[in-house]
Amino acid sequence: MTHSERLADDPTPLEARQSGPLTGNVRVPGDKSISHRALILGALAVGETRVSGLLEGEDVLNTAKAMRSLGAKVERTGPFAWSVRGVGVAGFAQPPAALDFGNSGTGCRLVIGAVAGCPIRAEFDGDASLRSRPMRRVLDPLELMGARVGASQQGGRLPLTLDGARDPLPIVYRTPVASAQIKSAVLLAGLAAPGVTTVIETEASRDHTELMLKHFGAQIVSTPEGRHGRRIDLTGQPELHGAEVVVPADPSSAAFPMVAALIVEGSDIVLSDVMTNPLRTGLLQTLREMGASIEQSELRGDAGEPMAQFRVRASKLRGVEVPPERAPSMIDEYLVLAVAASFAEGTTIMRGLHELRVKESDRLAATAAMLRVNGVKVEISDDDLIVEGRGHVEGGGLVATHMDHRIAMSALVMGLASDRPVKVDDTAFIATSFPDFIPMMRSLGAEFS
Ligand code: S3P
Repeated sequence: MTHSERLADDPTPLEARQSGPLTGNVRVPGDKSISHRALILGALAVGETRVSGLLEGEDVLNTAKAMRSLGAKVERTGPFAWSVRGVGVAGFAQPPAALDFGNSGTGCRLVIGAVAGCPIRAEFDGDASLRSRPMRRVLDPLELMGARVGASQQGGRLPLTLDGARDPLPIVYRTPVASAQIKSAVLLAGLAAPGVTTVIETEASRDHTELMLKHFGAQIVSTPEGRHGRRIDLTGQPELHGAEVVVPADPSSAAFPMVAALIVEGSDIVLSDVMTNPLRTGLLQTLREMGASIEQSELRGDAGEPMAQFRVRASKLRGVEVPPERAPSMIDEYLVLAVAASFAEGTTIMRGLHELRVKESDRLAATAAMLRVNGVKVEISDDDLIVEGRGHVEGGGLVATHMDHRIAMSALVMGLASDRPVKVDDTAFIATSFPDFIPMMRSLGAEFS
């Protein structure tokens, strides 16, 4: 039984109520995507990788454990400071037991890719949420590269056994959906292949793997492809050398205090060191279009990742239309955007959300349910979500979190400004990505009980 499943057996409900102005300056935890990648690339590099600002959430800790099982030396050297001594490209050892990724699709899919390029057998497993998520999307290209999938559930679901390729083949792969996880799995397997592995995406997804591979010494080139896409060419069998990684604050976590400050009257907060990679800023752009007061002061970037400080003040928001091509740059933010949209005046239409159906939960259905139970008029039409904002939200609902951290945090944010309190059935999964969410929000003035 995973840690998350044990927690799910003993749910921790919480209620958020209308709060006074939120004020203060906080730094949300390190970026989840970059934290996973720092550990995985550190484990595939020769020499030491020192990571500071690592997200010490359950998802990332599971990746750290997996890297240890695969032969890397992974140590915590201080608060959010980690050292990884890697085994070199294709150097993973056969793990003694199944690798358990808990709730994390990113950790699991990226490590499946990395293992696919090594001549070892590994078993992959996760909690009930992860076991329900599609893995075929990464297994298809990895089989083309020579990996073999043994026992697995229907649709390639976990638990599954993977035999990595002895002599992986480089491929040219066009991803069927905009997914950094699919792209990254292919690139990580491609590290072990001779020649050039190419991934083509019609819509550009987050490029942290590409930026970090470059930082670790790989030869990787990204060029525009079509209107919104990219072509990525990775030269295989590089010598990756250990590197220093400074993890900026996670914009997907910053989204919660940001929206809370916008909707709680009189609020004025500062969010420090938030990563501003342009492939992650869809929510920022959308909130600004809605009339949000978000001032940005630029800071220096690190390892190719820019970051900034944001001052966020309570704002009158209006409904907007969010185009489908923006989805990859804010795929994890639609839940909290739907909360902002509920407090806006007018209709917000979010288009092209099919990928939300295969996240930690079916987030399209769960978002609609979260709003409905709190008196907001909402509709799902094909892959679009339509929210009727009325400037205020009744609240009073009990929200089912479905083992999904972002549902829990979005619902709690909603309760901070709604007429009546909003309750969530379980806060345990918040620890997967934002372990300090509750105390940090309280420090800004949020009222939870
Ligand atoms: C992630 C990619 C996204 C995102 C996830 C993190 C990553 O998933 O939803 O939280 O770090 O690569 P998809 O690639 O499946 O869209």
